[in-house]
Amino acid sequence: MNEDLFSEHIPLMRPWLGEEEGNAVRDVLASGWISLGPKVAELEQKIAALVGAKHAVATNSATSALHLAMQTMGLERGDEVLLPSFTCMANANAVLIAGGVPRFVDIERDTLNLDPADVERRITPRTRAIMMVDQIGLPADLDALRAVADRHGLLLIDDAATAFGGKYKGRYVGGHGVPTCYSFHPRKMITTGEGGMLVTDNEAWAERARTLRSTGASVSDLRRHQAKGALFQQYFESGYNYRMTDLQAAVGVVQLTKLDRMLEQRAEQASLYGELLARFDEVRPPHVPAYAAHAYSSYCIRLTPSAKVPAEEVVRRMAERNVSCRRGIPPLHFEPVFKEEMAGLHLPETEAAAQETMFLPIFPGLLASQQRVVITALERSLLS
Ligand SMILES: Cc1ncc(COP(=O)(O)O)c(C=O)c1O
Repeated sequence: MNEDLFSEHIPLMRPWLGEEEGNAVRDVLASGWISLGPKVAELEQKIAALVGAKHAVATNSATSALHLAMQTMGLERGDEVLLPSFTCMANANAVLIAGGVPRFVDIERDTLNLDPADVERRITPRTRAIMMVDQIGLPADLDALRAVADRHGLLLIDDAATAFGGKYKGRYVGGHGVPTCYSFHPRKMITTGEGGMLVTDNEAWAERARTLRSTGASVSDLRRHQAKGALFQQYFESGYNYRMTDLQAAVGVVQLTKLDRMLEQRAEQASLYGELLARFDEVRPPHVPAYAAHAYSSYCIRLTPSAKVPAEEVVRRMAERNVSCRRGIPPLHFEPVFKEEMAGLHLPETEAAAQETMFLPIFPGLLASQQRVVITALERSLLS
């Protein structure tokens, strides 16, 4: 571990990794089976059972899990997919890789998640799917979005990359019967270094996703190994290499045992930030609707009209004070890759949120004393 990376400042995020993950990786190395195998299957079973989904398919990222979700659900070349612009490029990438056409939709001012009314307004005869995103760890209003999808016969996919451990109406995201994808990147709730997972109740989609994630082979490497090479694979369609390794899955299995403590710590940290921010006119803490339990994979504040310093400048000043923050999410429809195609598209809530939001450090192990340092730095950084 390179301590220098984290020693001199308060980082935005730091994964909670220890000896136990190291031991788990060593055991896998000693077993001789290091890629997709029994540890991946164990992680899949544990996560499916935890969130209340029938099937789980581990992948090498959430991007690939989203791709597999859309392909197995039957998205076809040229189909339009409605998704937020206030999200990471991976969402649009997954749509494009699946042959779809991304169409951006505005968000709600308070939750920063898809606005179901704007989703409905933007449906065209070419729309095939809605990709909802539980942004920043906050579950989106699934029932409202599912109602829109049902009314118009659209597919619904839930990107819970940042919201593993978050709950919608008392149940984990992923446990509501909608194909849902998680990310295990180090900035997410639990990590496997890189990694992702698709959970679904649809057995046929899960089986096809398993085949597609590993070249399209009808027989997995593990089953061939167990049959001592006497089983032969066939290819009914071409696939990918989206395999998670057993080394990664072993880390994930250990991380899962810490999930409750991670969620608890993050909720406590969010609560302390909320208290400390209560006296600031310039800043609003994140809004949590009654239907949601926030996973707080990140802590996103919003500057109010009382703030005289723009969020980007506040982030720069925080860095000078040795506190790593992050600006809000830049709208995808302004990215050079989409700019021409999306010319004239105006998403007022997305554009305002991008200007007015920023992320404060939150992670397991962040001390209350460090949070107070963050808030003092923020107070000074807000001075005009
Ligand atoms: C909302 C969202 N979706 C998807 C992804 C992609 O995750 P991955 O890096 O595992 O592909 C991210 C990553 O930052 C994300 O924030």
